[in-house]
Amino acid sequence: MRVVVTGGAGYIGSVVAEELLRRGHPVVVVDNLSKGHRDAVPDSASFVEADVGDTAAMHEVFANGAIDAVVHMAADSLVGESVENPRKYYRNNVQAGLSMLDAMVTAKVGRIVFSSTAAVYGEPERQPIVESDPTTPTNPYGASKLAFEQALPWYARAYGLSYTSLRYFNAAGASERAGERHDPETHLIPLVLQAAAGLRPHVVIFGDDYATQDGTCIRDYIHVVDLARAHALALEAMQATSGFSGVYNLGCGGRGYSVRQVIDTARRVTGKHIDVKLGPRRAGDPAVLVASSDRIRGELGFRPELQDLDEIVGSAWRYFQQTAGARTAAQGASVAR
Ligand code: UFG
Repeated sequence: MRVVVTGGAGYIGSVVAEELLRRGHPVVVVDNLSKGHRDAVPDSASFVEADVGDTAAMHEVFANGAIDAVVHMAADSLVGESVENPRKYYRNNVQAGLSMLDAMVTAKVGRIVFSSTAAVYGEPERQPIVESDPTTPTNPYGASKLAFEQALPWYARAYGLSYTSLRYFNAAGASERAGERHDPETHLIPLVLQAAAGLRPHVVIFGDDYATQDGTCIRDYIHVVDLARAHALALEAMQATSGFSGVYNLGCGGRGYSVRQVIDTARRVTGKHIDVKLGPRRAGDPAVLVASSDRIRGELGFRPELQDLDEIVGSAWRYFQQTAGARTAAQGASVAR
């Protein structure tokens, strides 16, 4: 299959592109580079610098490409920012996404894998979360992802589209080549590793008075390489069965790790001292977010292979050190000049 990966210069998108190429699917990355990095795109992927909301550019991508499927990952994804600036989220995640979907329908590109999020569940009533649980997002980010998700079955019915929505839990870790490089960084694991490397004085724990074993929030961390594999399985299921569509949680499933467990793991894996300060709760953080992964295991045959938190944090640390080395080399070169 020839696959367009929107947002393929981003953290998760670049690993998805890598996985699809590894399985023999040619990849065209479309990314506006607002957050992504050109050098994160695998060398063997084609690259188009465009915004998914640019209708003419997307028509051209689909018209020229003999495209079989789209993995749609281009989006804004900061919960706090979405509360401050909802129109950015509706514009980029809903409006631009729908305009790309229209271009797909016009060009008869019949398959889409959509990057959705656990944020569609809001404050879940029970754990682990199953896909049929209520979707009541508590911020515009989750609401915008849900709005796009909800368009898909209607498009499927009217235009014969096949779709798979993957509701990501906490993507973490790195492949051999690509990892997390956000600016600003807000995610727990990279922040903890920055503290381990001495790039920040400490990590702030956002609240330790939650109703969990150690009082800190619990999340279902899934290795980004496992997450990427799920996209390939979804595409291959849609290829094998005409009209195949579905909505799936994408986490390791069943258990999660607390903020304190993540920090302890990072101390062990890096062998570094990591200073911790206790801060107030972060607005909008549910105490526990853990996926039931029964549906994706049963229907797509998904089996996470890198579930161990040491493995996840260890891969992120290796990536961190590789990129820190590159940074030091660049600084050294400029000093030498
Ligand atoms: N945390 C801290 N200190 C920090 C950063 C995070 O204690 O400096 C805590 C958070 O409160 C949370 C946990 O670490 O309990 C994980 O936080 P992240 O920011 O790494 O991830 P989130 O669970 O907030 O976010 C993820 C995705 C979002 C998605 C959300 C769904 O990254 O895109 O799940 O709720 F919207």
